[in-house]
Amino acid sequence: MYKLISLTYLLIIFNNNFVLTDFIPTSRWGANAIYFNNKIYYGGGYLPLYPDNWRGTQPSNEFFSLDVPPSFNLTDRSKFVWTNLSSQSTNLIPFAFSSQCLIEDKIMMFGGDFDKYLPPANTTLVWFYDLSSSSPSWVLTKTTGQPNDLESGSLVYNNNTGNIYMWAGKLSNKNTLLTGGASPEDLPTTMNIFNKDTNVWTSLNLTNAPEGRYDFTSTLLRSGIIVYIGGQLTDANGFADMSQINMYSTTNDTWLPAMTTGGSYVPSTRARHTAVLTKDDRIIVYGGHTGTDKPLSDALAILNVSQIPFVWTQPNVVTFAPSPRTFHTSVLIGDFMIVAFGKSGKYIASGSDDLDILDVSDPSEYSWVNSIMPKPNKTNKISTTVTVKSGTTSNYNFVNFNLSIMVILLVIIQNYL
Ligand SMILES: *[C@@H]1O[C@H](CO)[C@@H](O)[C@H](O)[C@H]1NC(C)=O
Ligand SMILES: *[C@@H]1O[C@H](CO)[C@@H](O)[C@H](O)[C@H]1NC(C)=O
Ligand SMILES: *[C@@H]1O[C@H](CO)[C@@H](O)[C@H](O)[C@H]1NC(C)=O
Ligand SMILES: *[C@@H]1O[C@H](CO)[C@@H](O)[C@H](O)[C@H]1NC(C)=O
Ligand SMILES: *[C@@H]1O[C@H](CO)[C@@H](O)[C@H](O)[C@H]1NC(C)=O
Ligand SMILES: *[C@@H]1O[C@H](CO)[C@@H](O)[C@H](O)[C@H]1NC(C)=O
Ligand SMILES: *[C@@H]1O[C@H](CO)[C@@H](O)[C@H](O)[C@H]1NC(C)=O
Ligand SMILES: *[C@@H]1O[C@H](CO)[C@@H](O)[C@H](O)[C@H]1NC(C)=O
Ligand SMILES: *[C@@H]1O[C@H](CO)[C@@H](O)[C@H](O)[C@H]1NC(C)=O
Repeated sequence: MYKLISLTYLLIIFNNNFVLTDFIPTSRWGANAIYFNNKIYYGGGYLPLYPDNWRGTQPSNEFFSLDVPPSFNLTDRSKFVWTNLSSQSTNLIPFAFSSQCLIEDKIMMFGGDFDKYLPPANTTLVWFYDLSSSSPSWVLTKTTGQPNDLESGSLVYNNNTGNIYMWAGKLSNKNTLLTGGASPEDLPTTMNIFNKDTNVWTSLNLTNAPEGRYDFTSTLLRSGIIVYIGGQLTDANGFADMSQINMYSTTNDTWLPAMTTGGSYVPSTRARHTAVLTKDDRIIVYGGHTGTDKPLSDALAILNVSQIPFVWTQPNVVTFAPSPRTFHTSVLIGDFMIVAFGKSGKYIASGSDDLDILDVSDPSEYSWVNSIMPKPNKTNKISTTVTVKSGTTSNYNFVNFNLSIMVILLVIIQNYL
């Protein structure tokens, strides 16, 4: 009996001091992803309450990173490692559909869908995360003239103007998960411009602004023009026309007339897709939904923006393609687009920690390289702050113990047995 109590006591000490699990993030949709310095930083999103469907969800303020080896190639797979950074995101309100951008070495985040955590009007909703800090954490930051909460919008940083551009999105004045769509008053067309040096917002209601929308993508071209693609309009108007490209000039703060794309192919309308810009001026649009659970037949579409008018093409994919995703994240690193999380139709995307990777190096031949299952970080050890109920030790992986502690414990345990 004495031995048993002592052992239990030891195990409790153990549990309180070390989390022995390797970290692997769970499934989610509507999360954020930012690439910086060989890591992708992921945060938030709706988490499923059940393992195999999305019938119950809750927003999250989890934050974690994925190591991506410098100029990685496919032999580097074992170097993809997850790291749990949630101890740095306790200041975030659990969220999904938030907007983020990278400003030099800081991530800026604004607003989102907070579900039942919905903050009252005029709540401060700007957070910064300083990637170059030695002890980084998300910091809630008061700014001047901050707009009220907008979800499913976007932030675009132009390092030539020093401004961040936030256009459209949906006013999160109701639980949109329950109501679904939006009426015109939910979709403002205001261009909100935030200056990174003064911390001041300027809101422009420009007369020729396009129709309000949400769940679109925004891509800054090298010319200083922001290209807006797709998204959902009001319930009555459905989805944005993919053959009409809306563009905003950050050099003179005007909307350009909508451009009708050239060529005969126009991709399926979509929302909650992703868009990344290649070095040779292709926008790679991927995934999204059309309001049904049916995956898109032309999930991958390429917009050539090096000619006027822009031209859509259907890429020549020379490999087997993974099941397309929606509400996912995509990040372009070198010649590879890394796709993570999201839904696949009405299902949870296969393997929450499974990454789909598209090689975009050759405009005439796109290939999906095999999915990568990132390795958990074997050395990750979190001390004291985490309390775990006793009796669950069997779930933990003991392999990664600090060896000296392991030896001491074995000695102690042996003494009792
Ligand atoms: C791929 O990465 C491995 C390991 O880092 C390296 O040895 C190899 O030369 C790389 N191959 C190419 C084609 O870059
Ligand atoms: C990640 O870290 C947070 C905060 O330290 C902790 O509460 C959480 O349990 C960790 N998650 C996993 C899956 O280890
Ligand atoms: C929010 O701020 C605006 C402008 O300062 C003010 O007119 C409005 O009354 C405020 N709303 C609330 C709920 O405090
Ligand atoms: C500014 O941003 C562009 C990408 O939009 C990047 O290529 C360039 O290196 C950046 N310039 C500086 C000084 O960071
Ligand atoms: C812009 O229009 C919105 C309504 O869409 C209004 O609430 C806001 O006050 C206007 N802002 C300016 C600066 O006129
Ligand atoms: C604004 O700048 C864009 C280029 O960024 C140009 O195409 C457009 O004509 C300019 N508009 C005005 C009103 O000067
Ligand atoms: C994009 O258009 C330009 C101009 O027509 C052309 O030179 C280039 O090859 C096109 N790029 C791709 C990837 O098709
Ligand atoms: C594993 O996590 C620890 C602690 O967060 C970190 O110091 C270390 O660099 C990580 N190792 C790898 C390979 O990412
Ligand atoms: C194990 O823990 C001891 C004491 O805390 C420390 O000195 C040692 O560096 C640790 N070893 C490893 C491999 O983490």
